[in-house]
Amino acid sequence: MNSVTYKNRTIEQGELKYTGKAKEVYTTNDPDILWIHYLDQATAKNGKEKEQIDGKGQLNSAISHLLFDYLTQQNIKNHYLLSISKTDELVQALEILPIEVVTRNYASGHFVSKFQVTPMKKLTPIVQEFYYKSDALDDPFINDSQILALGYAVADELIYLRQEAQQINQLLSHLFSTINIQLIDFKLEFGRTASGSIILADELSPDNMRLVDLTTGDSLDKDIFREHKGDMTVGYHEVLDRLSHVK
Ligand code: ATP
Ligand code: TYD
Repeated sequence: MNSVTYKNRTIEQGELKYTGKAKEVYTTNDPDILWIHYLDQATAKNGKEKEQIDGKGQLNSAISHLLFDYLTQQNIKNHYLLSISKTDELVQALEILPIEVVTRNYASGHFVSKFQVTPMKKLTPIVQEFYYKSDALDDPFINDSQILALGYAVADELIYLRQEAQQINQLLSHLFSTINIQLIDFKLEFGRTASGSIILADELSPDNMRLVDLTTGDSLDKDIFREHKGDMTVGYHEVLDRLSHVK
């Protein structure tokens, strides 16, 4: 059985609770803690395209770890507890809101095709969008009143999600700019703690954000896989290498 020491207690890996497109989620002997395992798998088109990519789990886990550490230092409340191995981590168990919070600094992806705007057009103010987290429905766009009417969050929580996403955007955009990378857009997930507060959850990696080298304009994220442009791990290695050297 896999186990790890966390805060002078033994945390044991329990049953597989959920297999997602990029991670496995296990219970532990503590109901407030989950054991996350990053998979060597890349998907696009909401899982319709899937490929085994050796080493991807380690890359995402390492990048996510560094970004959560940075946000923790900047007082952003989040679920990250401990890195166990190159692919596994402990997180605080949350009730995940079924809302994906997307922030866009520059036009890309669906935003370009939907509005037929020039790719990389700077968006002022920044754009925030919500999507309903449902693979069966292909994560449809959802607006504030739909979220409230369907009870997926309450009004104060929506205000908090927007403020928190804006703050995280400022922090991450700044961090990436110091390593010559532009943060184009990204998706966040949040969850409720047992006491009812909302904190940042899931993963922070090039699977969920578009990152471009400021000098060359090269993609350093999942677009390499989405657009069949070669080995996606090259870009991920580059992001990890630059983040690892941030002072
Ligand atoms: P998507 O995130 O796009 O819906 P997925 O479900 O395939 O896709 P994975 O990253 O493979 O995503 O799976 C991880 C799952 O764990 C996600 O459903 C995510 O919402 C959930 N999760 C992340 N952090 C926590 C947490 N702290 N507590 C409970 N569940 C979490
Ligand atoms: P978007 O342009 O809406 O979608 P696509 O990637 O299909 O062109 O995505 C905006 C950003 O949010 C991008 O960095 C990917 C991320 N994202 C996810 O990681 N998962 C999601 O379910 C959604 C909707 C977006």
